[in-house]
Amino acid sequence: MSITFDETGRPREQVMAELEGFRGGDAAWRDGRVPLYVFSGPPEVQAIGQAAFNAYFSENALGARRAFPSLQHMEQEVIGMGLDLFHGPDGACGNMTSGGTESIVMAVKAARDHSRATRGDSGFRGNLVLPVSAHPAFDKAAALMDLSVRRVPLTADLVADPAAMAAAADGDTIMMVGSVPCFSYGTIDPIAALSEIAAVQGIWLHVDACVGGWMAPFAADIGRPIPPFDFGLPGVSSLSADLHKFGFCPKPASTIFYRTAELQQRQEFAFDVWPSGRFATQTMVGTRPGGAVASAWAVMRFLGRAGYRDIARDVLAMRDAYLRDLGAIPSMRVRGAPALANIAFGCDDIDMGQVATLLNERGWIAGQVRTPPSLHLMLSLHHADARDAYVRDVAACVAAVRANSGAKAEAVTYA
Ligand SMILES: Cc1ncc(COP(=O)(O)O)c(C=O)c1O
Repeated sequence: MSITFDETGRPREQVMAELEGFRGGDAAWRDGRVPLYVFSGPPEVQAIGQAAFNAYFSENALGARRAFPSLQHMEQEVIGMGLDLFHGPDGACGNMTSGGTESIVMAVKAARDHSRATRGDSGFRGNLVLPVSAHPAFDKAAALMDLSVRRVPLTADLVADPAAMAAAADGDTIMMVGSVPCFSYGTIDPIAALSEIAAVQGIWLHVDACVGGWMAPFAADIGRPIPPFDFGLPGVSSLSADLHKFGFCPKPASTIFYRTAELQQRQEFAFDVWPSGRFATQTMVGTRPGGAVASAWAVMRFLGRAGYRDIARDVLAMRDAYLRDLGAIPSMRVRGAPALANIAFGCDDIDMGQVATLLNERGWIAGQVRTPPSLHLMLSLHHADARDAYVRDVAACVAAVRANSGAKAEAVTYA
């Protein structure tokens, strides 16, 4: 495609009309047809997030300390609320980032630099021990820092296997990971057992609560079975939790927390050998949208714990209804015990890739998991009204595949 950069600009109305027109080719996420990427709270939460984002549309959180104390104040409050929620001990700290991947990259950088400092070996490159279900962001971090990764098989319940993780770790292990929950199955890894191993072996344990961090405590409050997973466990060194997922804040917004200021200090990048003096950041990125900080602060203050509990109640009731209705499809099985709003389910007697193909033909973006072959959903409030149509279509596609539809299996793709 050859694109020209016009000499003359187009009128605003035309530009906006064109921009809206592009949406015609997008999947209908508002109708619940996209199983991931977008996370909706109630409309009033979306509205205050958007208003606060726009109020700080131009400010840059890179300059929070020197120019925008308002942003620094709001970020400190967001982090403070997180430390309160995640039982941060005295001296625990954290900061905001642009998303789960950045939070994870920074935690891995901190663990690497901590291991280098404690060994007195500035070139040390260790390994990361992950359950096979951990997010690829850890491998991305390892690729950036030239570290090796050991992915360890799960138990039959589709959670991390502490004994196998302990066996995979050695003197060169700089980080062990558990997910709350993992993306693929929505199962929560046994963080208490990993914490014990980490404490005994002196290994940094990172809890990837990117998906569940801002929902799990509220799910526990309303009586859902959520095991302890945060700094209340002594072996947890760092924890990532995304605000732009089940914190229902505008993108891009995540949080990364450390048990001590010393550990957080290891993530800092500081540089002084250029004409403009000291440059020190806690993030991968330099410039950061002020709107992301302001809107996270606004959404969290607007909702309070009670507001988050209400959303958790609604989302999990909807998830239960999906599980109930999907479970009524002959031979359909839920994978593991999903703790929050991401679920995987499939029939073992047919090719679930073919089911995905047929669902795509019916206008859904079919979420998939490769092992065991399954469909996947990450549910939030815009999926509520789609349930009947989705379950009906899954049932019809399963029946068609069972009757030998001849469909070609769809490849399993995340992004
Ligand atoms: C468990 C888990 N960790 C990390 C991430 C990465 O988050 P992001 O896409 O915000 O970088 C995801 C994304 O879905 C995730 O599911």
